[in-house]
Amino acid sequence: MSARRTGDRRFEPLKTERLILRRWRPSDRTPFAAINADPQVMEYFPSRLTPEQSDASIARIEAHFDRHGFGFWAVEIPHFTPLAGFIGLSVPRFEAHFTPCVEIGWRLGRQYWGRGYATEGARAALAWGFERLQLSEIVSFTVPHNWRSRRVMENIGMTRDPNDDFRHPALADTHPLSCHVLYRCDRSAFARSRFSNTDP
Ligand SMILES: CC(C)(COP(=O)(O)OP(=O)(O)OC[C@H]1O[C@@H](n2cnc3c(N)ncnc32)[C@H](O)[C@@H]1OP(=O)(O)O)[C@@H](O)C(=O)NCCC(=O)NCCS
Repeated sequence: MSARRTGDRRFEPLKTERLILRRWRPSDRTPFAAINADPQVMEYFPSRLTPEQSDASIARIEAHFDRHGFGFWAVEIPHFTPLAGFIGLSVPRFEAHFTPCVEIGWRLGRQYWGRGYATEGARAALAWGFERLQLSEIVSFTVPHNWRSRRVMENIGMTRDPNDDFRHPALADTHPLSCHVLYRCDRSAFARSRFSNTDP
């Protein structure tokens, strides 16, 4: 019997003030394909995705949930949209100096940008990773020019050491998107920031 059917608490939706982070549904395919076909959303990725590639990435995300008990959640914004994109945790498939690791990542449709949704969902996902999964560290990475994403990383308390910068092994060294910055957050830093946030 699948973990979902046994009522495993790891698979319950994660709720924030404005968002529901949940497992994927067949009805998410069409809106997710539109997000993955948008050149602005995919500006810092090697290519946009075809609808088939977009469906395949949902299938990979769902397989990741089944294998690891976590993954990139579908983001629902009640009273606004059933699918705004994804936010969540994932185990990168490539090897680098910081792997194996768990990364936190996000991708939202352009119409949902600039309202703090990524920061809100990412904060909840980070807390879930440290508190529920008891992870010792969570990383995130992107190309240096992706300032929106870097701001989300910084807003949730992640920090960058330039010595951690790396070239993405899936891309040729000469590729314009090869260079990446790495941000990290460890559980003790997370706990300290939680404590200081609740300090009067
Ligand atoms: C990255 C992404 C998820 C951010 O979503 P979002 O909901 O708009 O994020 P938030 O509103 O929570 O925060 C965005 C931050 O970027 C800042 N920002 C926006 N445009 C910016 C720009 N051009 N330069 C620098 N910072 C910028 C905002 O001011 C905000 O920071 P602040 O809260 O400190 O003011 C969204 O832009 C996206 O899906 N991008 C495409 C996919 C992608 O690149 N994913 C990340 C791959 S690593």
